[in-house]
Amino acid sequence: MSTFQAPKGTYDLIPPASAKYLAVRDAISAPLKNSGYGYIETPGFENVELFSRGVGESTDIVSKEMYAFETKGGDKLALRPEGTASVLRAALEANLHKAGNLPVKLWYSGSYYRYERPQKGRYRHFSQVGAEAIGAEDPALDAELIILADQAYRSLGLRQFRILLNSLGDKECRPVYRDALQGFLRGLELDDDTRRRIEINPLRVLDDKRPEVQKQLVGAPMLRDYLCDACKAYHEEVRELLTAAGVAYEDDEKLVRGLDYYTRSTFEFVHDGLGSQSAVGGGGRYDGLSEMIGGPALPSVGWALGVDRTVLALEAEGIELELPATTSVFAVPLGEEARRVLFGVVTELRRAGVAADFSYGGKGLKGAMKSANRSGARYAIVAGERDLAEGVVQLKDMESGDQSPVALADAVTAIRERLA
Ligand code: HAM
Repeated sequence: MSTFQAPKGTYDLIPPASAKYLAVRDAISAPLKNSGYGYIETPGFENVELFSRGVGESTDIVSKEMYAFETKGGDKLALRPEGTASVLRAALEANLHKAGNLPVKLWYSGSYYRYERPQKGRYRHFSQVGAEAIGAEDPALDAELIILADQAYRSLGLRQFRILLNSLGDKECRPVYRDALQGFLRGLELDDDTRRRIEINPLRVLDDKRPEVQKQLVGAPMLRDYLCDACKAYHEEVRELLTAAGVAYEDDEKLVRGLDYYTRSTFEFVHDGLGSQSAVGGGGRYDGLSEMIGGPALPSVGWALGVDRTVLALEAEGIELELPATTSVFAVPLGEEARRVLFGVVTELRRAGVAADFSYGGKGLKGAMKSANRSGARYAIVAGERDLAEGVVQLKDMESGDQSPVALADAVTAIRERLA
């Protein structure tokens, strides 16, 4: 072991387990690619102000968890704690919203950073696949995104997840509710931290998990009773579209989410096998974010699904993904001449699209066959001096153990036929 270890709250993805992460990213992105979402990639860091304005000064993400730093040149930057603000910033910068084709639908996959207290399912470096639909106010778009997430989880075989749905209202009705809630909360027996929270982010107090707080929250004004007619109708339509699509959800009027930009639809995907870090994904509508970061009004909606937690959810349900073996053919040369000849065969196989690997480092037959076994290859090609003198290589079926000679000149064709 070296003297260095991965930093606290991080871990490495290493074969063979890393293949599962790639498969999860593919499974989440497949329904998006199939639904008009284009791939976007943005930098791992941004101007810190993008997040403080976009995600919100009062959120834990910005006030406690952001990796913010000043560069040698004096720029104030932050490692991205989430993707939505960056994607919207990039779309505005490239004027995608002016191309006359709204909504702009984008998907992304990458690393995100939050200085959180690490525990199982909660890391300081984690990975998300996300989707944003920018510039349209249409309940079908909110429904589309929830349906696609549901489809992604199901394609992985997940069953023990639930979809929580709420509406946070808009800039008309939410302030009225906020006032009413603050009035109620100010009358409770709460610690100083929570009292401060009442003034900056009262909705988050509803999320407080402590029983002594929850007890006092009975009878608190609920947002659903304050939603304006437009928000109510919008929410009702999202719900109807989900029901028509056969996607089950639960109304959760306490679902607030940890980012300030949400309006109207908010949703979370929770998995019941994960303990306290049960949110495998989350998202919602953010109709005001564009204006908050200096753009025009662009009502938008999106989500991000956590890759790390989705992998944990697969483990919790005992799901083994069917990952194809990475190597189909493994070459075992015995001697110098065979090494050169089989290396040529392997190169040819690879160029023909066959996944092939080679025994490097001059191993003997026993060690090389062990490597062939470990590789998961369906066939091994073995050749020594005598085989080459006869113009053949031995083709060994790694499942049955049967071995038969094939002409060296036909080896690639013969292998491709057997694999087909
Ligand atoms: P979020 O709920 O903060 O939303 O994160 C989405 C998902 O990322 C979570 O449900 C979780 O699976 C994963 N995640 C977050 N923090 C961690 C962590 N410390 N360790 C492991 N996994 C984590 C957003 O990020 C929004 N940008 C989603 C969105 C997109 N809303 C609209 N568009």
